[in-house]
Amino acid sequence: MNNLTKHRFFLKSKLNWMEKKSVKTDQEQRFPRPDLFKPYEKKGSTFVHLPIPEKTIVKKQDIFQIILDRRSHRNFTAEAITLEELSWLLYATQGIKEIGPKQAYSLRMVPSGGARHSLVTYIAVLNVDKVEPGIYRYLPQEHQLIRVLLDDDLVTNVKKCCHNQVFTEKASAIFFWTSVPYRSEWRYHLEAHRYILMDAGHVCQNLYLAGEAIQLGVCAIGAYDQLFTDQYLKIDGVNELAVYAAAVGTKDTKEKS
Ligand SMILES: Cc1cc2nc3c(=O)[nH]c(=O)nc-3n(C[C@H](O)[C@H](O)[C@H](O)COP(=O)(O)O)c2cc1C
Repeated sequence: MNNLTKHRFFLKSKLNWMEKKSVKTDQEQRFPRPDLFKPYEKKGSTFVHLPIPEKTIVKKQDIFQIILDRRSHRNFTAEAITLEELSWLLYATQGIKEIGPKQAYSLRMVPSGGARHSLVTYIAVLNVDKVEPGIYRYLPQEHQLIRVLLDDDLVTNVKKCCHNQVFTEKASAIFFWTSVPYRSEWRYHLEAHRYILMDAGHVCQNLYLAGEAIQLGVCAIGAYDQLFTDQYLKIDGVNELAVYAAAVGTKDTKEKS
């Protein structure tokens, strides 16, 4: 049997351990607060403006039924999702409600440990009306997308990111969530790493529920290729790294999920 128990330290709260070791967080040592948002270059970039979601997009408003009906869906039709639908899913998962004074924090549609919100959303647009297929990054502060790359082999490479899971080929969009860990580490030191993954769980659950509310299929993807995904998304894998993903598409109700 593998000796796994020693690695379980990762799962445990480190607050007492940190106290015992007299660890001072970077925030306590008065290091500068990391930026709330990942910066981007305006000049020469391509943006996709997203419509602010209207309540009418939600076909199913009964939260009781949404929770009961939520499942993971891996069979998608060839039907594209609309820009309005994509906009809703981004808004529901990372949309901003409030930005604190001096950009000290943001409040979003999902909770985050200490409102540190270390996550960044990338979208592989495979089949979305009015959007050229490619990789985009969500800018929550402006509710728009910035293009990261176009790729003739997009479907193959996105599938490769997802450990070659075949169902990703027919998805309309794949959400990739990365983390800028220092946003949370600055306040929580080693405890941040658990919070980052908990945050990602909240985000993906909102995607499931928001998807179910507009009758789109969602499937979480924990099995992804770390090295390839980080390289593909053009992030360094140290100061920003992929932590989770999910596929979205039009449910093929004829097939078993
Ligand atoms: C953390 C996490 C990682 C997952 N990773 C994958 C994955 O890589 N591929 C996949 O097909 N499903 C994945 N799933 C979906 C689960 O297989 C699914 O939630 C589970 O079988 C229960 O089915 P249900 O979501 O329909 O209730 C993942 C779910 C979670 C929560």
